[in-house]
Formats: sequence, structure tokens, C-alpha cells
Amino acid sequence: MIFRQLFDGVSSTYSYLLASRRGGEAMIIDPVIEKVDRYLQLARELDLKLVKAIDTHLHADHITGLGALRDRTQCVTVMGERSRVDVVSMRVADGDRLQIEGIDLEVLYTPGHTDDSYSFRMADRVFTGDTLLIRGTGRTDFQNGDARAQYESIFGRLLRLPDETLVYPGHDYKGDTVSTIGEERRCNPRLQVKSVDEYVELMHNLRLANPKMMDVAVPANMKVGLQQQDIARRGWALTAEQAVAVLGQPDVVLIDLRERAERERHGTIPGSLHVPYPSLCESTSAGGTLNALARTTGKRLLFYCAFGERSAMAVQAAQDAGLSSSCHLQGGLAAWKAAGGPLEPPGRPAGST
Ligand SMILES: [Fe+2]
Repeated sequence: MIFRQLFDGVSSTYSYLLASRRGGEAMIIDPVIEKVDRYLQLARELDLKLVKAIDTHLHADHITGLGALRDRTQCVTVMGERSRVDVVSMRVADGDRLQIEGIDLEVLYTPGHTDDSYSFRMADRVFTGDTLLIRGTGRTDFQNGDARAQYESIFGRLLRLPDETLVYPGHDYKGDTVSTIGEERRCNPRLQVKSVDEYVELMHNLRLANPKMMDVAVPANMKVGLQQQDIARRGWALTAEQAVAVLGQPDVVLIDLRERAERERHGTIPGSLHVPYPSLCESTSAGGTLNALARTTGKRLLFYCAFGERSAMAVQAAQDAGLSSSCHLQGGLAAWKAAGGPLEPPGRPAGST
């Protein structure tokens, strides 16, 4: 496995680059915007293709690198389903698996620091964001923080992991890099409480100053969505209502870019083909399945995904490959559902290519 713990000295943020092999897919957890060039340089040096960028929660102390990484690499941006961010490409929920080639993270919903805080567990380690820090815990006094919920997330979820599980936090202000669950249970001063009420009182008495960047970072981080209007202005977008109107027409084929788990959870548009986003470029380039389908049948490709981000990037790739009639469903399946578009029920997705 390739594993890099990267540090932003201004906000004391740790970001994590993960991949299973040189030449393979990579993901990054909690990237910082000022370090995006460094991440991309490192990915090039290690011969990695960045395919997912994940934030553990909406950050208040730095601006996320999610949007910049998506714009520069067309990677999929991921946050938890509870996040108030305007648009990410994919939202995950407790119990979901977050996967790339050779890497499989279990999603744990661990609210308390914020109400959109998630942790991500691999076989031998857990990325705890700001829920559990080394000899500390994330503050709970803003962004819908809740000390009671955090106690439950830490004692009810994270401390139930095996003692030897490595703890990789979202920040450290003292220079520590890694701990273990057992070590934190024994040595973390915030966890030496006898009850949830004692923990709540301890957290309420911290009286910390607000982060310096908070007034800038929170609004910026809530607007990381891709500007889908640019795609619409080029005539490459259908609104959900327009897409409902063309459903079933013989000259249009709908292409679902989401992952299998998303299809099973949220349902699919009837009659659509499944071409997962990571295989899209291969499929739309010369000799690829979708390229051949569009050219031999003259059908218009109508891409869709969860919220319209992956499909907006897909339509750009298809247009670049010369498929000039291709378009996407603006706002994705969320907009389709809001418009009352028909769905195949969750759990029974349509056929795959
Ligand atoms: Fe935070």
C-alpha cells in the first residue's frame, strides 16, 4: 500500500493520500487548497491517478482542496450525506463502503464536532477527522457541534474498534502523527471521564476562540460544487423536466455513471445503461463501447449521476471525444426525483454494460 500523511503547517491539518500500488488509483482525505499543487506533484511522482477526494466534515479552519482537485483531475468529490455543502459528486452514509482500486474504507457516521463528521476505517487504521484527536477531541461549540453526540461517537463507535487500530486524525497541534485506539482510551485526558454528563461539562468549559479562518473557510467550503451552468450554456444539459420528456424516445440512451452501491440504494432511471464513471473515458474514446454506440446508432447519450457533477465532467469528455450530441442531466438523480421522474426501485438496478 502507498500511504502518505501530508501536513499543512498553517492550519495544522493532516491530509492522507492512499493507493494500493504504483500506477493505480488514489484517494485523498481532507485536502487543503493551498497544497493542491503539492498533492498533484506527489501523485505524478508516485504514478498515481487521483480518483476520489474526501472531506471528513465541513472545515472551519481551512479551505478544502476538493473543488480544485476535481477541476484539475476530474476526480469524484465525496462527503457525508449530512453535509450542508452545496454539491459534491457523491454522498456517503454510515455503513457505506468508500472504494477505489485495492482500497476499501468503511464509512462511520461520528457526529459531535460537527453534525456532518464522518470517520473512515481501513483494516488496521481509522481516519478520525476532528472527532478523535491525539490526546484531544474536536471542539463541539459551533457548526451544530454536540458534546453528547461526540461522546457517543467516541465511546460508542471509535473506542469499540480493536485497541491496536491506528488513529490518524484530521489535525495535530503538537507534532504527533499517529496513535492507537488503546493508547487514546488510556492516555487521552478528555476520555478519562466517568459519564456523558462529565464529558459534556468538560467540553462546555473549554471556551475556545473561534478559528481565525472561520468566517472565510465555512462559506467557501459550502460552495465547492462544479459550475454546472457553464455546461448548460453550451447546450449540453437537460433539466430534469426536459429529461423526463425524452425518456423512452428511441434516439436517446441514458447512461448511469454512479457506483453499484449508489444504484442499489437510490434506484435507477428505467432503461438506463450502467457505465461507472471511472471507465467513462475509455468508453467514450475511439474504439470504446459508448463511442461505438453513439456513432453506429446515432443515439444521443444522456449522462446522469447523483447530483450532476460526474455527468457534467462526462459530457465534457464525450464532447472532447467528438460525441457532439451528448448531454447530461443537470442536478442528477436528485433533480430527477424532485421532478417526479420514474425510478426503478432501489435494489433492482437495470442491466450493466
Ligand atoms: Fe473541524
